[in-house]
Amino acid sequence: MNDATNLGTAVVTGATGGVGALYAQGLADRGYDLLLVGRQEKALKELAEKISKSSGRTVNIAAHDLSNAGELNTLASRLSGDSSVSLLANIAGTSSFSPFIKLGSDDIAQTIAINVTALTQLSHAVAPGFVERGKGTIVNFASVLAFRPWAEFNVYNATKAYVVMLSQSLQADLGEKGVLVQVVAPPATATPFWANAGFNVENLPAKAVMKSEDLVSAALVGLDNGESWVLPSLGDVSVWEAFQSARTELVKSMMNGTPAERYTKG
Ligand SMILES: NC(=O)c1ccc[n+]([C@@H]2O[C@H](COP(=O)([O-])OP(=O)(O)OC[C@H]3O[C@@H](n4cnc5c(N)ncnc54)[C@H](OP(=O)(O)O)[C@@H]3O)[C@@H](O)[C@H]2O)c1
Repeated sequence: MNDATNLGTAVVTGATGGVGALYAQGLADRGYDLLLVGRQEKALKELAEKISKSSGRTVNIAAHDLSNAGELNTLASRLSGDSSVSLLANIAGTSSFSPFIKLGSDDIAQTIAINVTALTQLSHAVAPGFVERGKGTIVNFASVLAFRPWAEFNVYNATKAYVVMLSQSLQADLGEKGVLVQVVAPPATATPFWANAGFNVENLPAKAVMKSEDLVSAALVGLDNGESWVLPSLGDVSVWEAFQSARTELVKSMMNGTPAERYTKG
């Protein structure tokens, strides 16, 4: 049991997943009570029991399908009305590996519903309380694939680019109000995620794939450090800094209200 002062309640979506379960355990070990969210009630109950036993924290569960608008609203109302909530970890994510023209419309809807709509709505539910209390943390799981197109991960990559951009806007908006909005961009990690998406992770070079324990351990160090960006597999941080400055420079160069010369000919 951890003797740390109670840090409030951390809400963890995707808690039954390869990453979420370990992340939830790490939060409890740090002194958070937990609300574990996922669809699989039995798995949530078992996990809650295990974490509560090992950490001594209070662990509750909320079994919801986050792609169901009604269930998402129910959870969002619960979170917005609970002043004990101090951290929201948006870890739930889903994907389908398929050429775009073969992707089912249900798969598209599901990916956008979980990765975009649920993450946005739950963040929107907790943010007012965090601002009012002048503190709180939102952790959004994006992906390295937010920065790289991959034909068969079309919609998934786009949703993760959304997570990056939304989080960056929220950092600018909520950061000065005492709220940490953290983005975690994992590399390929060995979890059921790949099989669920319909891709054999063994087709990737083994050295490109991180162990879920290593990913979560790095993400939690990033949380302990209060970092806005957690890039678990990036050794040379100057690459990230160069990327950010290139983006700033690009936008600066485009904010001049004048068509570029190559578009004014003929
Ligand atoms: N694994 C990787 O290589 C990798 C790389 C980069 C980023 N990420 C991101 O990291 C996060 C965690 O991924 P993971 O590897 O842990 O994936 P995972 O093992 O497939 O787990 C996905 C989690 O999302 C939940 N979920 C899926 N659909 C849901 C729905 N309709 N309603 C509620 N919950 C739902 C699942 O819970 P239930 O089954 O109980 O509903 C499960 O807990 C995701 O955001 C993923 O995009 C993963």
